[in-house]
Amino acid sequence: MVIVMSPQATASDLATIVALVETAGGEAFVSRGMSRTVVGLVGDLDQFGTLNLGAMRGVAQVVRISVPYKLISRQSHPDRSIVRVGGVSIGPGTTTLIAGPCAVETPQQTLRAAQMARAAGATLLRGGAFKPRTSPYAFQGLGEAGLKILADVRGETGLPVVTEVVDAHDVELVASYADMLQIGTRNAQNFALLQAVGDAGKPVMLKRGMSGTIEEWLMAAEYVAQRGNLDIVLCERGIRTFETATRNTLDIAAVPIVQRLSHLPVIVDPSHSGGRRDLVLPLTRAALAVGADGVIIDVHPDPTTALCDGPQALVHEDMEELGAVMRGKSLWQGQVLD
Ligand code: E4P
Ligand code: PEP
Repeated sequence: MVIVMSPQATASDLATIVALVETAGGEAFVSRGMSRTVVGLVGDLDQFGTLNLGAMRGVAQVVRISVPYKLISRQSHPDRSIVRVGGVSIGPGTTTLIAGPCAVETPQQTLRAAQMARAAGATLLRGGAFKPRTSPYAFQGLGEAGLKILADVRGETGLPVVTEVVDAHDVELVASYADMLQIGTRNAQNFALLQAVGDAGKPVMLKRGMSGTIEEWLMAAEYVAQRGNLDIVLCERGIRTFETATRNTLDIAAVPIVQRLSHLPVIVDPSHSGGRRDLVLPLTRAALAVGADGVIIDVHPDPTTALCDGPQALVHEDMEELGAVMRGKSLWQGQVLD
């Protein structure tokens, strides 16, 4: 941490700062420039957090040098991590495809979607049994009945299950069926829920809040990590901007930025970001091009009957190309999209 003194700061202002820092157990290194004096602080940042240094007389600015998220940062763990979900690895050296229906609707629909996903190379099955919906009148998911369907489909296909939990009270229940717990964009700063999934003993996929900064997203991951669970995969799923042509704006730069800041794997959700079937493959290519560790994609055997997010679900005809994109065998040739 560095404190920049204002040009008007007096010797007494400076002495007060130095004394405060030293009393808190830190060291203060004073460096005098032509017009400004800066003070470099060495010690545990938590010691200084309570000092309210920014409010002291003569202080112009307090600049943090180390990042506020400790456990998930590359400052504390320089190598990028691999997270294992039911035997499947997500992280450096892998490009994991997670696919399945947005919502679990029936056993047949879920099994069919899982088969389509597996045929395209998916190694993990997604599917929501608890759906966070904007409208209370929209399909809310099948709840535990949906979890049972997911477990049955896992039994039939061998695909481990990733599913969302929306309420801290349901964490134990969802964890008893799921291989990975998903925290959705709407709960990205539900701190009680983050702590509960941190305690659940299962890997966690943490989506970015739709209006969340990268730092807020990483601080949310720190809540999970603080409970002793470092099996966290971060998912960029698009953010709110002024643009209305897409459902959300995929912040593609967030992928390499976060991979540099945190050791956790970062995947992309091209379905919920674009919100349109015709954008899923182009956004998947973009995700892989910037080095995402995987993608999570909505698939439906018949999106015209889907109870949630039909317009963004891939159909049978798209799946072969998705597989080729994932294997790096389908490069965009510059055609105009139809
Ligand atoms: C995800 O699957 C969400 O439940 C879904 O995208 C929410 O959509 P809504 O905001 O239209 O309800
Ligand atoms: C989902 O993946 O089912 C979902 C609800 O996505 P998001 O939280 O990104 O909207």
